[in-house]
Amino acid sequence: MRFAAIADIHGNHLALEAVLADVRAQGIEQIVNLGDSFSGPLEAGLTADLLMPLNALTVRGNHDRALIDRPFEAMGDWEKPSYPQLSAAHLDWIRGLPEAARIGDEVFLCHATPQDDNTYWTETLSADGIFHLKPLAEIEALAEGIDTPLILCGHSHIPRAVQLSDGRLIVNPGSVGCPGFDYDVPVYHKAQAGTPFASYAILEKTVRGWQPSFRQVRYDNHAMAELARRHGMMDWVSALSSGWIA
Ligand SMILES: [Fe+2]
Repeated sequence: MRFAAIADIHGNHLALEAVLADVRAQGIEQIVNLGDSFSGPLEAGLTADLLMPLNALTVRGNHDRALIDRPFEAMGDWEKPSYPQLSAAHLDWIRGLPEAARIGDEVFLCHATPQDDNTYWTETLSADGIFHLKPLAEIEALAEGIDTPLILCGHSHIPRAVQLSDGRLIVNPGSVGCPGFDYDVPVYHKAQAGTPFASYAILEKTVRGWQPSFRQVRYDNHAMAELARRHGMMDWVSALSSGWIA
């Protein structure tokens, strides 16, 4: 069994196109998507048109939920530019997404954690907003009751693999379309991939267990940074241009 995991596309259709081409070049046909596919100042509609025909097993992220659970006026900065680009069919597709999914006895998928869609599973914040690896016991507490050897999550936008003490492996493939962001809850912090590339992971079941391989794909990130600039979202401009929040 060998497949690709993508996450946090955030409306970046050029990054998604580049990732899909790279996935095909690796001879991989099965793709799973860990959510947050559309929100941001980019191309939500074009992204939906690319994504929906893939029929990839997809879970719903917090930003996908924010497109369907509140009126437009109550939406945040990331939803307001993307919502008007989505058709009724796109929104229906989002409404039909599950919060979590499984592939047989092998793989569990969720956007952030099994309990909720808006908690970093493997990262935590220090009081001064430094984003770092969470203590193992806290990561394991969130994995209670998940019995698959491979667990996939997104949300933090940081590619990472964490092995639990019983051998279960949590893999975050990183973000296809948004390599960094800043956020002020609960304290101001930055998540930064450190590269502007489109990130995803290939997962392969081997005789020794699940093998993750992280892929970083170059694409025309400056074109997408320009689009963010037109929306006046300078944190996006910085992240898309460099992978860092200036
Ligand atoms: Fe998220």
